[in-house]
Amino acid sequence: MEIAWEVTNVEKLRVGVIGTGSLAEYHLNSYKNNPAVEITALCDINKERARKKADIFGAKEIYDDYEEMFKSKNIDAVSVITWNNTHAPITIAALEAGKHVLCEKPPALNAEEASRMKQAAEKKGKLLMYGFVRRFAQNTQVLKSFMDSGELGEIYYIKTGYLRRCGNPGGWFANKEISGGGPLIDLGVHIIDLAMYLMGKPKPVSVFGNTSYKVGNRANIKDVTNYKSADFKTEQNISVKNTVEDFANALIKFDNGASLYVETSWTMHIKSNIAYMDIFGSKGGAKLEPQLEIYSEKNNYMIDIQPVVSSSSFDFDKAFSAEIDHFVDCIMNGTPCICPAEDGLTIMKILDAIYKSAETGKLIVL
Ligand SMILES: NC(=O)c1ccc[n+]([C@@H]2O[C@H](COP(=O)([O-])OP(=O)(O)OC[C@H]3O[C@@H](n4cnc5c(N)ncnc54)[C@H](O)[C@@H]3O)[C@@H](O)[C@H]2O)c1
Repeated sequence: MEIAWEVTNVEKLRVGVIGTGSLAEYHLNSYKNNPAVEITALCDINKERARKKADIFGAKEIYDDYEEMFKSKNIDAVSVITWNNTHAPITIAALEAGKHVLCEKPPALNAEEASRMKQAAEKKGKLLMYGFVRRFAQNTQVLKSFMDSGELGEIYYIKTGYLRRCGNPGGWFANKEISGGGPLIDLGVHIIDLAMYLMGKPKPVSVFGNTSYKVGNRANIKDVTNYKSADFKTEQNISVKNTVEDFANALIKFDNGASLYVETSWTMHIKSNIAYMDIFGSKGGAKLEPQLEIYSEKNNYMIDIQPVVSSSSFDFDKAFSAEIDHFVDCIMNGTPCICPAEDGLTIMKILDAIYKSAETGKLIVL
């Protein structure tokens, strides 16, 4: 398979990271554990935060301005782990400066930005990979091997959900101008992408979606622990207003006739947080989360298959490690990338359409 980026033929890949907040450690630990990588530079507008991480991970260069960072000759590739509204400008600047980029999800605020990011990668002949980390989970890869070998037959329906009872991450996540939206763009992006990846990337043709703003961020609730942005502020100590949906759902149809139902929340009156993905094919079905199981039939009996694997549900550390190792492998060895720029553009078109459908009450034809 032909690849669209120049292979970087070096003994050690020199990596920089922009954004050293809550998620950064997953990237940094994975780079640190990859013997082909040296972490050379870190950047954060909060320079003290970057400095603290640099002390732990041994980066020699510390910046609070990414434009300055990209002038460095000691960086071959970067991870972009910043607020969503900065993914496009930082990624494009990095590509223009000749660096390969691994950009966190969501790819951008909208499809227009994702399209410019893709063009920048093509123009400079550099890799732009998106951090669709769920694709790298062991349960995903095991199920995909069953699906690719035809065990489930033709996939005609997936239903999936990622629902939190009280889990608005606060800070910039809750501000639509910075984040692009709430649980749909934050959590929905993971499961829509994953479903499409497992289905073999059919072409989306129409979208019907809803968003709701009924429950709010539930900042009054005491004694909950959940994922928080590095600069979390509660409603009582307000610096960022909550302007995003708390729930969204959508039905997406594909050119092969298959459909995907998705539902996602940051806050909802549900007993407990849940992530589920149910897959239905002509010869078999499967459940990916909360635990991998496959349903089929043999000798005129229904059978349940439970693959014996070390991670039958999503394992954060292992999945990030596999994602980072793949990024490094693509750059150094020219291995085809499983999360390329075009997939980022497709998912942003779908997310744009869900928000538009929710706003207009209409079916959006893509
Ligand atoms: N793959 C996943 O499962 C997953 C999980 C959590 C977050 N994320 C994504 O990672 C990104 C970061 O999320 P987070 O939770 O770490 O947020 P965070 O707020 O904890 O950290 C973001 C960091 O980026 C810095 N920053 C913002 N703008 C910058 C700029 N212009 N230049 C340099 N630094 C800048 C902030 O100061 C902060 O330290 C988001 O896009 C989020 O969607 C992905």
